[in-house]
Amino acid sequence: MAKDFDTMEDSNCSSNADIHSVSDPARRVWLQGGLAALAGSALAPLFAGCATTAGAGPLLGFKAIPVSTADTIVVPEGYVATAIAAWGEPIGVAGNMPAWREDASASAADQAVQMGMHHDGIHFYALADSSTRGLLTMNHEYVDDGLLHAGGMANWTAEKVKKAQAAHGVAVVEVERKGEGWDLVRPSAYARRFTASTPFALGGPAAGHSMMKTAADPAGRTVLGTLNNCASGKTPWGTYLSGEENFAYYFALGEALPDAHQKRWGLRKTAFFRWNEHDERFDAAKHPNEYNRFGWVVEIDPMDPKSTPVKRTALGRAAHEGAWIAVTKDGRAVVYSGEDSRFEYIYKFVSRDRIAPAGGGLTQAQANRELLDHGTLHVARFDADGSGRWLPLVHGQGPLTVANGFADQGEVVIKARQASDALGATKMDRPEWLAIDQQSGEVFCTLTNNSSRGAKDQPGVDAANPRANNVMGNIIRWKDDGDFDGVTMRWSHLVLAGDPANARPEAKGNINGDLFACPDGLMLDARGVLWIQTDMHASQMNQGELVRIGNNQMLACDRSTGEIRRFLTGPVNCEITGATQTPDGATMFINIQHPGETPSDCSDPAEPNKFSKWPHGGRPRSATVVIRRKDGGVIGA
Ligand code: FEO
Ligand code: CA
Ligand code: CA
Ligand code: CA
Repeated sequence: MAKDFDTMEDSNCSSNADIHSVSDPARRVWLQGGLAALAGSALAPLFAGCATTAGAGPLLGFKAIPVSTADTIVVPEGYVATAIAAWGEPIGVAGNMPAWREDASASAADQAVQMGMHHDGIHFYALADSSTRGLLTMNHEYVDDGLLHAGGMANWTAEKVKKAQAAHGVAVVEVERKGEGWDLVRPSAYARRFTASTPFALGGPAAGHSMMKTAADPAGRTVLGTLNNCASGKTPWGTYLSGEENFAYYFALGEALPDAHQKRWGLRKTAFFRWNEHDERFDAAKHPNEYNRFGWVVEIDPMDPKSTPVKRTALGRAAHEGAWIAVTKDGRAVVYSGEDSRFEYIYKFVSRDRIAPAGGGLTQAQANRELLDHGTLHVARFDADGSGRWLPLVHGQGPLTVANGFADQGEVVIKARQASDALGATKMDRPEWLAIDQQSGEVFCTLTNNSSRGAKDQPGVDAANPRANNVMGNIIRWKDDGDFDGVTMRWSHLVLAGDPANARPEAKGNINGDLFACPDGLMLDARGVLWIQTDMHASQMNQGELVRIGNNQMLACDRSTGEIRRFLTGPVNCEITGATQTPDGATMFINIQHPGETPSDCSDPAEPNKFSKWPHGGRPRSATVVIRRKDGGVIGA
């Protein structure tokens, strides 16, 4: 089954407007020439003066690199990139550091104390305010069972399922700069893995709800595991927020007919990962509520190795890409998140309470333990005149009543898609990462593409579904009126990805600078540079409308000029995802996910190196890349 793991099939059958139908007037403006055209448009007042916080002078000081199809990382002249913390490296639990095995013979127990597979969102947590020592907390989104096990998925066993579950989740590792390089500190008291079997507490309105109760957890308050953890955000109080994305691929309903709720959430007959064959929890016919216990944003305190991670249900259930935080002028937290699924939605949660300082013997993370359990969830509606509105998902308001199938607030958040359908939210083109400019109030969001057909069906156009022809992707931006808690907004596009050499007008894009497609990761650095990372699927790369764009890459956008400049290109069939910097800006960590990915998303175990040998010449392994300047300067400057 050829599939793109970041594309759940359409399950939104509502008649809500999609982003295409409200974009058309603005699109005419963008195609006239990007930011220059925008400056003369009706949307200009919103973004006038939205330039960087760095003041005058060019933000980008590196020389652009060309596209690449090589099986290696390329960075600009004067930079060095080194891989660390590859899949299978021991994380550094004292007395339990099983070494990497090239033949994939590591056991499930070994894998549970090693780096997981498919590194994704990542954040650096400085130890003692240092730029030379800290923790990296990162997601392991999913696995390639063809590479994970000797023999792949043949002779599928409970041990293989356990190993796959142990390769999912989140890792915390301690890292230290040594000379011009960085390495893991092992053993480390902070080293920790969260997997598909780690106990997570439930917080917020769905905790203890009847739809969350199972035979193994009759109270509905403790869930085993997190999975498909994609992007991540770092809170001002020092915790890590991770999005549970495509959880539908893990559950199987079998021959039973899905009910309306299961159908809306994309529950399938069979599970791509086949855990249900040896772990009954993932058999949705036997344990229907288990499915409701995934699709949340989880909060982890990496600084406290004994802390219990929590699923924050007040933020709503979704195929969450991740979660990103802004702070209102009066100190409340606002969490934006999107659902990377075709024609699903963008959400915003506004906390009821203000962020508390550390004190009374509590760290700041501990003082804000329940902050994200109380507040108001909203869903976005984008209108054709460039305005928009945040619609509250509050039980009892508007259509969110008992008569319409919402018994209480718990059911509203568990059924956030149905609630958003009823409110008239705008269907989006697979929102992936967000980035927030705390000073200007701008929020950026990648809409990666909405084509599930891609270049295999040249040129990526789905004739049966003309709305699904956004093959190249784009980045939208908005600014809430007043403050981050504003209920209205103004929105427009930052850039349409594409290649002017393409024939279809909508595949040409309006990039001022280097070509890219399928934007996914985003990071706004301390100088105001917007870093853009791409995720073209292996089944689409270097073909059709993407033929001149090469491997996935990372680019830097200077928002004051609109210029986008290519900074890094990745090895064959990887995606580039996750970016974080040390406080001094002199080290950047990014993740390379699934180098050597096959178009079917599951490698042939007999040919592990069919596409890539990155990073160490053997089996392809996701890994973290440390980027430094040879002169020790700030990355990108
Ligand atoms: Fe896991 Fe939407 O990227
Ligand atoms: Ca991915
Ligand atoms: Ca992503
Ligand atoms: Ca993606």
